Amino acid sequence: MDKYVVVGNPIKHSKSPFIHQQFAQQTDQNIVYQKELVDLDGFSAFIQQFKAVGGKGCNVTVPFKEEAYALADTLSERARAAGAVNTLIFNADGSITGDNTDGQGLVGDLLNQQVAIKEKRILVIGAGGAARGCILPILNQSPSEVVIANRTASKAASLAQQFNHAGNIKSCEFAELSGVFDIIINSTSASLSGALPPIDESIIAQADCCYDMAYGSEETCFLAWARELGVAKTIDGLGMLVGQAAESFRIWRGVLPKTDSVLNQMRQGL
Ligand code: ATR
Repeated sequence: MDKYVVVGNPIKHSKSPFIHQQFAQQTDQNIVYQKELVDLDGFSAFIQQFKAVGGKGCNVTVPFKEEAYALADTLSERARAAGAVNTLIFNADGSITGDNTDGQGLVGDLLNQQVAIKEKRILVIGAGGAARGCILPILNQSPSEVVIANRTASKAASLAQQFNHAGNIKSCEFAELSGVFDIIINSTSASLSGALPPIDESIIAQADCCYDMAYGSEETCFLAWARELGVAKTIDGLGMLVGQAAESFRIWRGVLPKTDSVLNQMRQGL
């Protein structure tokens, strides 16, 4: 039976084993998928050992995504763009490929929920790792413009600069945001601590869709704010989590699983 693992620290609450077992059942694949708590200085040794005992691939979560990026022998374009790897593929020749499926998870979730990206104007709030991972997959959907706004403006500027070869992208101070954004994506960790980004309410109110990469049993404060301001579609990051897993599964197994029923089960379990 082919073996996979998700590696992180902490890892106890990871839903990945559940999600991948559901995908395996749905697509009739015979796999084992476990979670592994790895010491902060033990990532590389664990990966080599897991590969040596016949592991086929690995998901990587906090805090090892940059280390996985450095460890991979080859990288997908989107992993290179993200500067981080969440999916390792152990190739038959012994080499390791690093990929990043987080951005596709977001894009796939938006499209699943009938939110079109093509020719839409998109605001990304935040300029950390989560934002960086999703920029290229978003630009690949041909939005009319992507604007990045961040508390530390210089980080938004350098992120926009990094991707300006790939599409129409710029950065902007929170206070200078103007015009209508069709989709607003919150990639900051602010909602986890109950904080709202300092964005004018009129910017939020005019959006068709607000997306928060965070999720929880309660609606995030960002989505509650957007809903109260009249935004018709508010979506949390649970679908992105399931979507990135589906894309990893596709890479490893050659079949893209459906996400709806897993997402429903996850929602009920929150
Ligand atoms: P991640 O990998 O999850 O993106 P990160 O790289 O630490 O984590 O980035 C966190 C993001 O959330 C950053 O954009 C950060 O803004 P700064 O670059 O100015 O630090 C943003 N963030 C965190 N707390 C915030 C808050 N209370 N208000 C606004 N932005 C916040």
